[in-house]
Amino acid sequence: MPLPDIVPAPPFAVGVGLPWDEPVGDAVATIAAARATHGDTFTITSGRDHYLFTFSPRGVESFYALPEEQASKGVADYLMLRRKLPDGIFDGRRSLPGSLFRRDDVTGYLRHLDEALAQTVAELGPSGECDVFALTRRLAHRMGLASWAGPDAADGDTFEALVAAFDTLDGSDAFVHPDAMAAVAASGKAAEQAALEVVVERISSAVDRLADLDAGDHALFARIVAAWADEPDDVRRRGVALDVALIHVASMSNLAAALGWALVDLVDHPQEAAAVVAGDTDLAQRCALESTRLAQRSIMARTVLGPVTLDVGDAVHQVPAGWTIATLLPLLNTTAAPRLDRWDPSRWDRHRLADTSDLASPQLVTAFGHGRHSCPAQPFALAAMTAAVTTLLASYDLAPRWSSYPSPVPAQIGGVARADGPCVMSYVLR
Ligand code: HEM
Repeated sequence: MPLPDIVPAPPFAVGVGLPWDEPVGDAVATIAAARATHGDTFTITSGRDHYLFTFSPRGVESFYALPEEQASKGVADYLMLRRKLPDGIFDGRRSLPGSLFRRDDVTGYLRHLDEALAQTVAELGPSGECDVFALTRRLAHRMGLASWAGPDAADGDTFEALVAAFDTLDGSDAFVHPDAMAAVAASGKAAEQAALEVVVERISSAVDRLADLDAGDHALFARIVAAWADEPDDVRRRGVALDVALIHVASMSNLAAALGWALVDLVDHPQEAAAVVAGDTDLAQRCALESTRLAQRSIMARTVLGPVTLDVGDAVHQVPAGWTIATLLPLLNTTAAPRLDRWDPSRWDRHRLADTSDLASPQLVTAFGHGRHSCPAQPFALAAMTAAVTTLLASYDLAPRWSSYPSPVPAQIGGVARADGPCVMSYVLR
């Protein structure tokens, strides 16, 4: 059945596709060019998908106010991630990433972060060179697995096996390397399926060990296990492992990338780095927000399930089911007002921009989203980034080995930017 039209019909950008369906080089530049030609609101067809993009102040506000029942972020995320992840990881989940932030949970995660940081310093040794993003990725794996994957998941041989498996299973490939998804589909997701089985094997064996240990140290894992208590042993073990797998792939990779950019920017700004080392945690948090804002590469998407109205300012569009309504943060975050292209942590006052007088809408700029779907992990992510940059900068003299500011993967269309190539820094223990 052909997709019903949007009424009134916005301009249609002929021949503009997204990197899942055709080679586009730089995904963000492609949408920027369509916007330059067609204005702030336009449609594209990419493969079998139909998108309505909006960038106008009213359009972006209307976007963030869309009701989940009719315009679903959950469905849009699922359609994106299933390009990479095996179906089995989605079916029948009982604990989801949204359930990670009950009272006291974050305290536990930050305690695990402290331990992970101590292990990182031990692994780095007194001096050397390392890739910033490889370092933050391993750190995020260690903190996450210690926090929700049960006893021993962040140690020794089990940790190494889980890191290798999760690096293969990495759901963020769906938007960081969209151009690789056709090959993933062609392979029947064989590598991902094999990696998922490694995760299942390692984590399901932790279910038995939990009984012998202090569950307080593994509160979230204990909750996940309890949710499967009514099932026979084999179903229970697999269910627990797949819950943990989805939580881990959905949560850690953006945090690792954002922490990488925060380190890159602080290494490039020694004055702010010195203040952070001296204990200015408020500045450290503003630096983390600022680096995350600049590194945002997110496509924000909602799959229309039932007809919705989208007011974009100069028109009010009736959008039927089947369309995807979207906006793209990198086309707003650095250009919606003058001087937004610069790294300037002083523009933040706690979690908000201190001065929005130059912005046609405060919702045109964001690091963690606006409205009902804004990130529930923001306080945790900022606390974790603050603790991590403070410890690493206080432990080491860090020096950049990059000759120009690292650039993002050009095809990436979603999440926090990943660096396109190595991003090496040298370190010497203070
Ligand atoms: C620096 C790291 C992170 C950044 C920049 C970030 C950014 C965002 C953004 C922009 C959104 C809104 C997306 C939209 O409206 O379409 C979001 C939603 C979400 N984030 Fe994060 N996030 C980060 C870390 C995390 C972590 C560690 C978790 C762990 C569970 C997490 C869980 C979620 C969830 C569950 C939602 C969906 C909320 C909903 O639909 O109501 N995020 N995040």
